[in-house]
Amino acid sequence: MKTIKIDIKNVLGTVSQADIQALDTQSAAGLEKLHNGTGEGNDFLGWLDLPTRTPASLIDDINAVAADLRANCEVVVAIGIGGSYLGAKAVIEALGNSFAAYRGDAPQVLFAGQNIGEDYLYELMDYLKGKKFGIVVISKSGTTTEPAIAFRLLKEQLESQLGKAEASRRIVAITDAARGALRQLATEEGYKTFVIDDNVGGRFSVLSPVGLLPIAIAGYDINALMKGAVDMEKATLAHADDNIAEVYAKTRNALYQAGKKIEILVNYNPKLHYFAEWWKQLYGESEGKDKKGIFPAAVDNSTDLHSMGQWIQDGERTIFETVLSVEEQQHTVVIPADEANLDGLNYIAGKRVDEVNKMAELGTLIAHVDGGVPNMRITIPALKEEYLGQLIYFFEKACGISGYILGVNPFNQPGVEDYKRNMFALLEKPGYEKETEAIKAKIAE
Ligand code: PA5
Repeated sequence: MKTIKIDIKNVLGTVSQADIQALDTQSAAGLEKLHNGTGEGNDFLGWLDLPTRTPASLIDDINAVAADLRANCEVVVAIGIGGSYLGAKAVIEALGNSFAAYRGDAPQVLFAGQNIGEDYLYELMDYLKGKKFGIVVISKSGTTTEPAIAFRLLKEQLESQLGKAEASRRIVAITDAARGALRQLATEEGYKTFVIDDNVGGRFSVLSPVGLLPIAIAGYDINALMKGAVDMEKATLAHADDNIAEVYAKTRNALYQAGKKIEILVNYNPKLHYFAEWWKQLYGESEGKDKKGIFPAAVDNSTDLHSMGQWIQDGERTIFETVLSVEEQQHTVVIPADEANLDGLNYIAGKRVDEVNKMAELGTLIAHVDGGVPNMRITIPALKEEYLGQLIYFFEKACGISGYILGVNPFNQPGVEDYKRNMFALLEKPGYEKETEAIKAKIAE
């Protein structure tokens, strides 16, 4: 069976095997806390066995709803933010054609509610005028402002284009089983719904209907995605030296303790850009608390070697890199020979573009390690559903262990509330009268 793999040998100039091994007891304890539910945040561990406990009937239901939307829509807008958006976006971008026009028979899946850009929303609504479109609205709480605004606007547009009854058949809501404004609305309007379990936090929800429905609508095989996740769930159960999630968790914490405060997730395939965005939320929200935590950053190479490359090679030595390396590409492009050879490229004529990319990757790795940037390397056999399922679960499991090694609650996000409180106070939301008064006084100072 092909599987994702991790190689940590290029961190060993910065930390030793003994430094990493010194975290083994904490790693074992972290793993045990996850499995026994004895750690902080233990009411949010529903993701842990989500791959193995998701019934086939739920996958079948998701596939059936996706098929219905695919048959009836040119465009489906997935509305959500943070964990209710990034996982689906990451997988769809990783599996999809780089150019939107090549969608085959699948509808275009667009996203909204992940920002409050007025022009973004105007342009989206303009684009949807006269098109057959559907909506998947995803919000665990049902009260998040960004998706609520987008849903209000697009629901109104869909109803005016189709009439209320038909519009209701093109809207699917994914939300809490019982609570929240979206659940109430869905019940009143008769929308098809899927449930986000109480014990599955947003950033750990991609393998639930939150991620699976938009991915299935876009035409991808969610059975294969879940199979990869099941394999990784089983492979990371036991405490072991070769438990890949523990290896990653221990190594990044050893590097953090050695002063490497920033982790850069590096890819050499533009399709992985949003995967890095998903990873940034997963690790940023899970670990950045109590004035601690590795800062998760990302670059898309070789593009960013021409922008961030200087800093990474030569800037402050507080960084380490984790490289996502895709072994096999789906297509073959060979560099042609040219008689005039004015660009001097004939020395690589006959080589695949990927061979050049791999040499860029290897050359960069050697340069960065020589320059004092330790590197971990995660190899992914190919950008296929099964391996993405493995990769998603691997990062989730490692994140739980890593957070416990770091000594934080990996499953809450108290810091996310602060901006909301200020925004509501500034917008004079009912119930925020005291905060409004306080923030106005602050502005006037
Ligand atoms: O990780 C989280 O919990 C958050 O980032 C949420 O995913 C995000 O705020 C969206 O929340 P909701 O799904 O309740 O609208």
